Amino acid sequence: MAKKKTLFCCGSCGYEAQKWMGRCPACDEWNTMAEVEALPYRQSTVRSGVKTKVVSLSDVSAAAEERYVTGVDEFDRVLGGGVVSGSVVLLGGDPGIGKSTLLLQAAAHLAVNYNVFYASGEESLQQLKMRAERLHIKESFNTAAVTDLEVLLESTEMIKPVVLVVDSVQSIYNSEIEGVPGSVSQVRAVAAELIRLAKEQNIAVFLVGHVTKEGTMAGPRLLEHMVDCVLYLEGDRYHSFRILRGVKNRFGSTNEIGVFMMENEGMVEVANPSHLFITRRKEQAAGAVITAIMEGTRPLLVEIQSLVAPTSYPAPKRTSTGIDLNRVALVLAVLEKHAGINFFGLDTFVNVVGGVRLYETAGDLALALSLTSSLKGKTLNGDTVAVGEVGLTGEIRPVSRIRQRLNEASKLGFKRFIMPGANRAELKADANEFRGLQLIGVDSIKEAIGVALLQG
Ligand code: TYD
Ligand code: MG
Repeated sequence: MAKKKTLFCCGSCGYEAQKWMGRCPACDEWNTMAEVEALPYRQSTVRSGVKTKVVSLSDVSAAAEERYVTGVDEFDRVLGGGVVSGSVVLLGGDPGIGKSTLLLQAAAHLAVNYNVFYASGEESLQQLKMRAERLHIKESFNTAAVTDLEVLLESTEMIKPVVLVVDSVQSIYNSEIEGVPGSVSQVRAVAAELIRLAKEQNIAVFLVGHVTKEGTMAGPRLLEHMVDCVLYLEGDRYHSFRILRGVKNRFGSTNEIGVFMMENEGMVEVANPSHLFITRRKEQAAGAVITAIMEGTRPLLVEIQSLVAPTSYPAPKRTSTGIDLNRVALVLAVLEKHAGINFFGLDTFVNVVGGVRLYETAGDLALALSLTSSLKGKTLNGDTVAVGEVGLTGEIRPVSRIRQRLNEASKLGFKRFIMPGANRAELKADANEFRGLQLIGVDSIKEAIGVALLQG
């Protein structure tokens, strides 16, 4: 019987298609559809006569899941308080970003209390050892350089670890499946087996998955729906800090981030990251504005910088690093329409300092002020933080968790807050809480510019 094949978009998105298509409807890439053998259907439970036990939900006891603390606090927080036994965590990220380093550190901490197995498909044991020495790791744990899935499964059966690290899923090869290691069919099959292993033997499994833009290797997104927890390690290779972000977590919140610095001795946790991303100046430089964003439950101060300059091209350049270009276009349009500020014939460059990415609209007001500040060559007072969402009618819309943002900013010595009028009103009741701080509510973009840029 011919094996059933399915079409997948290889690499970045993993879209499953019913028929062949030239362009993937999910990620808009051309010629990425690849035919993949369907995962073998496992009939073992039927054959062995094992029946699923059906119980009433009320009879199920919600025993708290067992968690193993990795000892790397920032990592534990993103995981939701340690890794859950029998769960599969996918750690994705660009090659060279620090995934192996982070997991080796976590493995060393875990090895103090638990049986840990670190399976390396990419690096030799000598390389692993050299890295461990560089990280001053004293603890010992089981390691193996394996690329064959069978061997990996057998060694795991033998070692019976509590925590298994597979670095990386793309380097492991299942000889029963067609395709080279790292291909869509291989990655899916290998992951499926490892997930089964995790569930059957109650092992906490960390899978490393490289993100590849070229699509030559199957990316971790393909596995997102299969695993319990998906974390991405982000950052700029040329900056030393890294952000660990949860995108999916069946056992915790996905809003948490962990911040690390990549130092000579590995990943160093940054407990209070706000000061990293901002430059304290007595007087801000034109185009630089500080805002307070929320990363999960955590406020973070970041600096938005803009450069607005006459263009020498027929069409002005609009570039942005760290903020969605569509959001920048929206803010520019609102500034033109509702504040009478014209960006015609001007190049605009926007950057969030330190490689942070802004997903929140609460940074809109700071972005608008930053663009205006650069255009007009006027600065803001160096003690100022601005938060607020810019609406299409030029209004400044309220943001969530204003108190936490304020507290973070005041902790770092900022004195002046420009915020949505609605948020200002919300704070009226307990004015004492923020005594000595200048809280300025603004309702429109025009008003905000007037308040922010005239002084300073
Ligand atoms: P690595 O963990 O191998 O990345 P990944 O597994 O995501 O591919 O990290 C590789 C980079 O990190 C490498 O360029 C060297 C750097 N590095 C440090 O700066 N300090 C260290 O202590 C270590 C181990 C690596
Ligand atoms: Mg690695």
